[in-house]
Amino acid sequence: MSKPVRKAVIPAAGFGTRFLPFSKSVPKEMLPILDRPVIEFIVAEAVAAGMTDILIITSRHKKVMEDHFDRFPELEVVLANKGKTEELDQIVDLAQQANVHFIRQGEALGLGHAIGMASDHVGDEPFAVLLGDDIMHERAGVLTGMVDAYEEHGTSVVALMEVPRADIGSYGCAATEDIGESRVVRVTDLIEKPDPAVAPSNLAIMGRYLFTPSIFAEIEETAPGVGGEIQITDAMLSLLAHEQMLGFTFAEGRFDTGKKADYLRAVVELTLERSDIGPEFAAILSDVCRSRGLV
Ligand code: G1P
Repeated sequence: MSKPVRKAVIPAAGFGTRFLPFSKSVPKEMLPILDRPVIEFIVAEAVAAGMTDILIITSRHKKVMEDHFDRFPELEVVLANKGKTEELDQIVDLAQQANVHFIRQGEALGLGHAIGMASDHVGDEPFAVLLGDDIMHERAGVLTGMVDAYEEHGTSVVALMEVPRADIGSYGCAATEDIGESRVVRVTDLIEKPDPAVAPSNLAIMGRYLFTPSIFAEIEETAPGVGGEIQITDAMLSLLAHEQMLGFTFAEGRFDTGKKADYLRAVVELTLERSDIGPEFAAILSDVCRSRGLV
């Protein structure tokens, strides 16, 4: 029997240079999707997939994320006195939905290095990694599908999505083979940010990983790769020499909030889906589109 996946690691230490000047003083993970920061969606996804222990890897100037997942007794009293029970429940739930821990990556040495910092906390257990930029829509069922695949096969699993070949150089790329399942494939090779002309496929690694604890020994041995950084993709390739690894494929439902246009799409789509403000926002949106001749 595989050990249950209880722990999730969320690397969130990057500078977020694409969102300057905002990200000079506010972590990009705190960009709002209306009234909820991006990081809240990532934590909620891990909790929905059954994880009860979340470790967020942060860096200097990111303390506000810790406050966001902490209790706030003074505010709770104010909300209780005003009878604002819905808001009160929301902010208490945020702090209680899981045990949320933080450690800091003192130097920006790469994603592999950031994940390696979770080693003592995770110990000898399988764990998920959710990149802080990518919101996955619930309907895509990515992390829950990966947990199912892990429980069935007991191996590491990585989320994969086809991208246009010209774009594969922006991602980690996986070569795979069929194992007779509709969404699960076997990973046979991995390369970080390949030249599209020689990339082994157009299947890109998409911000969700489920690792056996053996990944930590591989990270320790991994030398800096692309961009002079310790790449998780390189550590995964070393792991592949000793253990099987599976890919969980999906086709849509990902918002890369690290990119401005995709962030805006996330705000629009996720706001349209809300029962409180969605219909009103839909009316505003069609009005704006009509008045600008966009539809
Ligand atoms: C990282 C990973 C890459 C992955 C990507 C997904 O790259 O190194 O393998 O495909 O995230 O967003 P980054 O976007 O940090 O350059």
